[in-house]
Amino acid sequence: MTMNRSGIIDALNGALAWELRAIAMYAHYSAYVSGIHRLQLSAHFSEEVTESTTHAAAVRAAIVKLDGIATTDRADTEIIHTMDYTEMLKEAYKTEMKASETYGQILPMIETLGDKELYDSLETIYFDEMRSVEELRMMLK
Ligand SMILES: [Fe+2]
Ligand SMILES: [Fe+2]
Repeated sequence: MTMNRSGIIDALNGALAWELRAIAMYAHYSAYVSGIHRLQLSAHFSEEVTESTTHAAAVRAAIVKLDGIATTDRADTEIIHTMDYTEMLKEAYKTEMKASETYGQILPMIETLGDKELYDSLETIYFDEMRSVEELRMMLK
């Protein structure tokens, strides 16, 4: 698939907006998670904030490298407020699924640029998202 640079920048901005939403969602859930699993899940959600912040920085750097303008807005998909950890994990699963799909679509576009460093940094994120999907699948069993 050939894709022009502005199309790739748009796709990267979609991924960045999704990371910005993930940061807000996980920070919210870390604060509100209640019940017997709070101790573990609050820390887990905090780690997801950190991971999403790292991902956002890498995607932003990719957009800068391509001479694009990085979005500062988060994706507008609603963040569901709940104190029920199972609901939170289900929302997290949906979020991670969408993230892995997004990076799965971006990688072939990046490949057309022939920039190995850029490809490698985005592939690393893609693997992180796939690991999160699998982890959440196990947590929801
Ligand atoms: Fe991410
Ligand atoms: Fe993620």
